[in-house]
Amino acid sequence: MKVLVLHGSARKGGDTDTLAERFLAGMAEEGPHEVRHFYAIDMTIAHCRGAACMACEGDGGTRGCVVEDDMQAVYPALREAQVVVLATPMFWGYMTSQLKTLFDRLEAAVSPAYFGGKDFVLLIGYRHYHGSIVEWLNRITRAFQSRCHSIVCQTYDPQTDRDVPIGETPERLEEAFALGRRIAASRSS
Ligand SMILES: Cc1cc2nc3c(=O)[nH]c(=O)nc-3n(C[C@H](O)[C@H](O)[C@H](O)COP(=O)(O)O)c2cc1C
Repeated sequence: MKVLVLHGSARKGGDTDTLAERFLAGMAEEGPHEVRHFYAIDMTIAHCRGAACMACEGDGGTRGCVVEDDMQAVYPALREAQVVVLATPMFWGYMTSQLKTLFDRLEAAVSPAYFGGKDFVLLIGYRHYHGSIVEWLNRITRAFQSRCHSIVCQTYDPQTDRDVPIGETPERLEEAFALGRRIAASRSS
């Protein structure tokens, strides 16, 4: 099975990377998979110029995006993947800006060929709020008859005003592992 992991955090091995690692470990229990990782923070991705460009004509990948940068590797990886993982901390109520820049460029690929029939997995680290991004991905996946799964992990304890290391939330790590295993099993049966 082909799995695409889009990492939104700049903190390698941080909360959301760890959730992704546990998710993939769960998948691996059901057999080997071809996993591709993209770390948005390390990529050269120009901003989508929107209506100032529209060379793609928003036609879902037939023309593609004319901007030659690291996104050109993401398009085929998204198209081929059966499972797409978005692992991102909440920053100011949404995904990180580096991941948002990547997503804006997916405007050139908005079609069932790229977004349909997949399992999308949202792995969120947050301190206070995560609703907007869960709602966003639910809407997109519904529109393309894909499935949406979310694991939201609060990495802050308001009682003690303390950031909680991801290792202290074993139930979320276990949830990620179980979800990976479940998706791998269901797609291979
Ligand atoms: C610049 C910045 C903005 C943040 N904004 C939010 C936010 O809007 N809502 C929230 O719940 N947490 C927010 N947080 C907390 C992070 O989402 C949280 O610490 C997350 O678990 C970090 O994950 P990581 O280790 O994968 O980078 C913010 C953190 C930073 C550094």
